[in-house]
Amino acid sequence: MTIIDIEPDAIVRPAATIVAHVPIAEADAEPVAQALTDELGGIETAVATFETPDGSWALELYFFNRMPDEARIRGLVARIAGSRAACALTFGLVADNDWVTASLAGLSPVRAGRFVIHGRHDRASVGVNRVAIEIEAALAFGTGHHGTTRGCLLALDQILKAHRPRSVLDIGTGTGVLAIAAAKVLRRPVAASDLDREAVGIARANAALNGARPLVEVVHAAGSRSPRLRARNGFDLVLANILLGPLKRLAASVVAQLSARGRVILSGLLPAQANAALAAYRRGGLVLERRIVLEGWTTLVLARRRTTPAGVVATPQRRIVAPAIHQ
Ligand SMILES: C[S@@+](CC[C@H](N)C(=O)[O-])C[C@H]1O[C@@H](n2cnc3c(N)ncnc32)[C@H](O)[C@@H]1O
Repeated sequence: MTIIDIEPDAIVRPAATIVAHVPIAEADAEPVAQALTDELGGIETAVATFETPDGSWALELYFFNRMPDEARIRGLVARIAGSRAACALTFGLVADNDWVTASLAGLSPVRAGRFVIHGRHDRASVGVNRVAIEIEAALAFGTGHHGTTRGCLLALDQILKAHRPRSVLDIGTGTGVLAIAAAKVLRRPVAASDLDREAVGIARANAALNGARPLVEVVHAAGSRSPRLRARNGFDLVLANILLGPLKRLAASVVAQLSARGRVILSGLLPAQANAALAAYRRGGLVLERRIVLEGWTTLVLARRRTTPAGVVATPQRRIVAPAIHQ
């Protein structure tokens, strides 16, 4: 990835990404990431923490189509990691082409349960007993390499072992990876939404590439706020891999659109945020069925509360801490 220095008042072209980079102590990485997510959260910001090849840690904060408030970010970093870390913060512009090239270069196939997500270059090497989904790196999220996507795919794989949802909604579909995965296994219509127009186009193209275009309907919408989706009420399964803020805001409408035996898969949550998301969906009468912790991200599976004839809630709970398998 090439990072270009920018002037503070540089004009940001549409689709430009600005990255703030800071070397950080490992112990500070997650607290700072969480503080930045809480304070700046939104669809145009993403935070990543990672170990660099020399064993030190770094945090990167991406701003899509938006100028960062440098002073505010330095202040947030200083509050938790100290002023030395705040001074070491640099801002740069990520060139779009390099972003895609860099993503493509590192993409090896990713397995999650029965699913394997791969690029065109690995088409021939995918085992026949896998559900293969071909996704090219593009300017949409969802190549399968992120812990949130893999968490959702693992949860989906588990659910599909015991249930056959009749109708599925994927909110924040990105590349369409989750919607395509559900459609390929179920061979039933799957609805998907994204509020990013570019992602909608990419998801439609990926559905066609994977032979799932007749089954996957992708609409440009926030959450499920679209007449097309309202007309398809009563979803047996809703997947939403977005951030805590939108997940909480969407809770009431998601629950309202869920069928009596419906389930919800939520991701995009740091472990410390999971209970806040859980509380929002519990208020709508859902209960936790499974919690998957993978690569520092939490995925939750919730279901409508079921009562026995005696009125007792029956909800077996599972907690899975999945290994970080990339292959
Ligand atoms: C983290 S990506 C997830 C992509 C894919 N579903 C996956 O699991 O890899 C989140 C996507 O949700 C979209 N998004 C965020 N908030 C949304 C909302 N309220 N309604 C619809 N889409 C949203 C973003 O544009 C982005 O494409």
